Amino acid sequence: MRRLLPDPGDITVSEQLEAYRPWEEPREDRPLVAMNFVATVDGRATIEGRSGPIGSDTDTEMLARLRTRFDALMIGAGTMRAERYGRLVTKQETRERREQTGLPPEPLMVLVSGRLDLPWEAPLFTEGGEVLIFTASETDPPETVSSVEVVRHEGAVNLREAMRHLRHEHGIRALLSEGGPHLHDQMQADGLVDDLFLTIAPKLSGGDAPRIVEGPLPGVIELELAWLLEEDGELFARYRRS
Ligand SMILES: NC(=O)c1ccc[n+]([C@@H]2O[C@H](COP(=O)([O-])OP(=O)(O)OC[C@H]3O[C@@H](n4cnc5c(N)ncnc54)[C@H](OP(=O)(O)O)[C@@H]3O)[C@@H](O)[C@H]2O)c1
Repeated sequence: MRRLLPDPGDITVSEQLEAYRPWEEPREDRPLVAMNFVATVDGRATIEGRSGPIGSDTDTEMLARLRTRFDALMIGAGTMRAERYGRLVTKQETRERREQTGLPPEPLMVLVSGRLDLPWEAPLFTEGGEVLIFTASETDPPETVSSVEVVRHEGAVNLREAMRHLRHEHGIRALLSEGGPHLHDQMQADGLVDDLFLTIAPKLSGGDAPRIVEGPLPGVIELELAWLLEEDGELFARYRRS
């Protein structure tokens, strides 16, 4: 792939991410937070209800390598229902590489759910990884599910409070959120997002699929372009909140 900005030249995904060390920049009361999305040129975040058909294999590599730079990963319940995540790290080699970098062997998986209506049979819940769920529901996960901790908020999950909890109760220094659009909207509205990784695939999909932000923001949020990479017409941007 080519790096267009800064310092144009050939680069690989892993070389580009090597110097990205978000765990060294936790905020006092929350982790450093990055969001990652893939979108079509017309700004759509799904094709037929999933994000997978939008990006290329290089986008998948970007996603996988980004995960190796964070203490925790977070998604909303809508994304969990659509994408049915599995266990995040399965290879011993990846666990060791993470530990050598100074990260936990496997990222903590964080879910945000109002109703706790989740696909409990999904591999994320059955393969034994550590999962933390922030929810406004008073129901419990089924007994078949192990290694899940539930933190309850009244009415709705207070995301600022959730970030504080992750920083102070779990020592999370850097958190990558993979969406979706409704959770993203609230995280931006609450001023909780530092970095936005956005892949723009050279496709138009039309229709009424969601965009990467779904919901009102308190105003226009200004972003700075921190880097821009390109491969086969696909753009890989990292924006920072100004
Ligand atoms: N293109 C991409 O990069 C990308 C990335 C992620 C997702 N997606 C796509 O986006 C779609 C899902 O969109 P979405 O906006 O519905 O997903 P979402 O943001 O992951 O989930 C929304 C749900 O999260 C819960 N939630 C969010 N904020 C909450 C709060 N403050 N308190 C309590 N619960 C809260 C609610 O769960 P309950 O329903 O439990 O109340 C809400 O319905 C899927 O089709 C997925 O494939 C695309």
